[in-house]
Amino acid sequence: MAERLLQASRQRRMKAMTAAAGSAGRAAVPLLLCALLVPGGAYVVDDSDGLGREFDGIGAISGGGATSRLLVNYPEPYRSQILDYLFKPNFGASLHILKVEIGGDGQTTDGTEPSHMHYALDENYFRGYEWWLMKEAKKRNPNIILMGLPWSFPGWLGKGFNWPYVNLQLTAYYVMTWIVGAKHYHDLDIDYIGIWNERSYDINYIKVLRRMLNYQGLDRVKIIASDNLWEPISASMLLDSELLEVIDVIGAHYPGTHIVKDAKLTKKKLWSSEDFSTVNSDVGAGCLGRILNQNYINGYMTATIAWNLVASYYEQLPYGRCGLMTAQEPWSGHYVVESPIWVSAHTTQFTQPGWYYLKTVGHLEKGGSYVALTDGLGNLTIIIETMSHKHSKCIRPFLPYFNVSHQFATFVLKGSFSEIPELQVWYTKLGKPSTRFLFKQLDSLWLLDSSGTFSLELQEDELFTLTTLTTGGKGSYPLPPKSQPFPRIYKDDFDVDYPFFSEAPNFADQTGVFEYFTNIEDPGEHRFTLRQVLNQRPITWAADAYNTISIIGDYKWSNLTVTCDVYIETPEKGGVFIAGRVNKGGILIRGARGVFFWIFANGTYRVTGDLAGWIIYALGHVDVTAKTWYTLRLIVKGRFSSGMLNGRAVWTNIPVSFPKNGWAAIGTYSFEFAQFDNFHVEATS
Ligand SMILES: *[C@@H]1O[C@H](CO)[C@@H](O)[C@H](O)[C@H]1NC(C)=O
Ligand SMILES: *[C@@H]1O[C@H](CO)[C@@H](O)[C@H](O)[C@H]1NC(C)=O
Ligand SMILES: *[C@@H]1O[C@H](CO)[C@@H](O)[C@H](O)[C@H]1NC(C)=O
Ligand SMILES: *[C@@H]1O[C@H](CO)[C@@H](O)[C@H](O)[C@H]1NC(C)=O
Repeated sequence: MAERLLQASRQRRMKAMTAAAGSAGRAAVPLLLCALLVPGGAYVVDDSDGLGREFDGIGAISGGGATSRLLVNYPEPYRSQILDYLFKPNFGASLHILKVEIGGDGQTTDGTEPSHMHYALDENYFRGYEWWLMKEAKKRNPNIILMGLPWSFPGWLGKGFNWPYVNLQLTAYYVMTWIVGAKHYHDLDIDYIGIWNERSYDINYIKVLRRMLNYQGLDRVKIIASDNLWEPISASMLLDSELLEVIDVIGAHYPGTHIVKDAKLTKKKLWSSEDFSTVNSDVGAGCLGRILNQNYINGYMTATIAWNLVASYYEQLPYGRCGLMTAQEPWSGHYVVESPIWVSAHTTQFTQPGWYYLKTVGHLEKGGSYVALTDGLGNLTIIIETMSHKHSKCIRPFLPYFNVSHQFATFVLKGSFSEIPELQVWYTKLGKPSTRFLFKQLDSLWLLDSSGTFSLELQEDELFTLTTLTTGGKGSYPLPPKSQPFPRIYKDDFDVDYPFFSEAPNFADQTGVFEYFTNIEDPGEHRFTLRQVLNQRPITWAADAYNTISIIGDYKWSNLTVTCDVYIETPEKGGVFIAGRVNKGGILIRGARGVFFWIFANGTYRVTGDLAGWIIYALGHVDVTAKTWYTLRLIVKGRFSSGMLNGRAVWTNIPVSFPKNGWAAIGTYSFEFAQFDNFHVEATS
């Protein structure tokens, strides 16, 4: 392996291969011959003319939205194993940065995440799972950098407008309390705070936020803006010296490895603060390998943050499997350590924030690129990628054609690196299973007699890391359990006295927020329930539905019976539903079709073919009022559906031809309190 890839000349290669045929183990191949004998490009790695920009890290995003939803309910030891693959140093992706969504109650791509302030006088720093995730990340890597960014905001901040900048002080206060709460309740130091994901910024808001943070003694918390495009924020900064001062980092999304002139003129740190977002196949891995190098080479970006950290949401939601790895089956414990984990490792395990890029980075003659970084203490890491166009397309932006082909590349170490005796070699080849390698350690490379010169034979879709660090490691655990479909029979009575997470396992809120709830006065059956807790539409980031809805189960479910106790809290206007065959979620939730059985506090029921209620299959009167528990049952089988209330048929054999399958769901008519208990679903064939 090593003998094929590392040699100083063709002639040498033949000799080395001959020698290797008879030897075993980690015999290093000394590389001696003059590099000029090797056809192909020559690349100098040198620090004598100073260093390039400071490296700030490689990271990933949990949230934006609800992308870690299913992770939290994984049984041990699998949950810890997944976290190790993501965060543990010298083990897997070994991320330097964790960026999380500041839950704002709204739909933010694959679900909603709860705010720490649902209402004006409300404060709770134990909702959701991002606090837990940050702590798990810190446990594994105390140096991990933490970032927070809002996507949506709770509705009360908008004072009637769908806009977070109505009262700048109030919104800054809201964000500041999240940072203070992280420290106070979880001992988490948030390092960077953002403005409003992929939406407008307000110059005065950014200044108010800075002042509020400083006033609270949070000077150390840096501001990143504006998590959208390079412009107009860069131009705004160049025109406003105070703004230029308060923004520490310009973060752009999906920059396609390029920046604009203004961004560079600000002389600020430039980050790709959201990138990747590609299915985690080998093409996704190729995308990541290419941008991790080229975001710096082409665009001077010193951090790249992937959306998303781990694909832990139902796969049929938008952007299914666009995480560094896949963990979407808490019911089976099955997960997959996908190739982007190992592509990340090529950079993350051999650099740290605070290292510096060398000035000598760039493109390879026949396609691909190389970067080199140093800690300034003599360590050197070189990362070479030869991702082909076909196998490295990211989901966005458009990737102009380029050609990568077989080549030899000779590297010459100069300056303080000229005396390096040995480099560790880590290798990945994406693509065909027969020739595929993921983060494999090869024989180390001895440079003793070669005056710092070595050559590589490079094929398409390869990654090499050559480094002085000997600490790298390819972590592994025994294979997790086999993939299983969601259980065909599933129940939850929500009887949890001190829940560790605010949401019930497997329920994935798509509009509204559903939380465990305790009816303190009720000693009986419905003491512990699941409650929809939003009483107002959030300041939205996406097209949240006008109803609230939480989905659960298997998208493939076609014939099913859903039974659930329901409790409308709002007299006259309130209403709740249970549903089957719900065929859309995430940012598409508003257009979800399915079979929805609604009851209303005004004594009526409805059966609709969509969440919005446009397609009405049936309606009528039924003996229902608010503040009473009822048991609803929805039966969907083949082309027909029936509904029952407290065991009595309300409607029967209504034709339902579309959609053919989808999730089960519960929800409310509007943003209103309502409770659910004894949820039971049985998928039948
Ligand atoms: C390289 O890094 C290691 C580990 O951080 C450190 O101990 C060592 O001093 C550094 N320098 C050299 C030349 O190895
Ligand atoms: C890519 O480059 C190789 C070698 O330079 C050449 O043989 C091949 O035709 C090129 N492919 C395309 C599509 O340009
Ligand atoms: C009952 O309430 C629902 C939801 O508010 C409403 O759409 C419906 O028109 C009402 N029906 C009657 C008969 O008042
Ligand atoms: C659903 O039930 C219908 C009617 O009994 C049956 O024809 C169909 O095969 C069932 N579908 C599945 C996926 O089991």
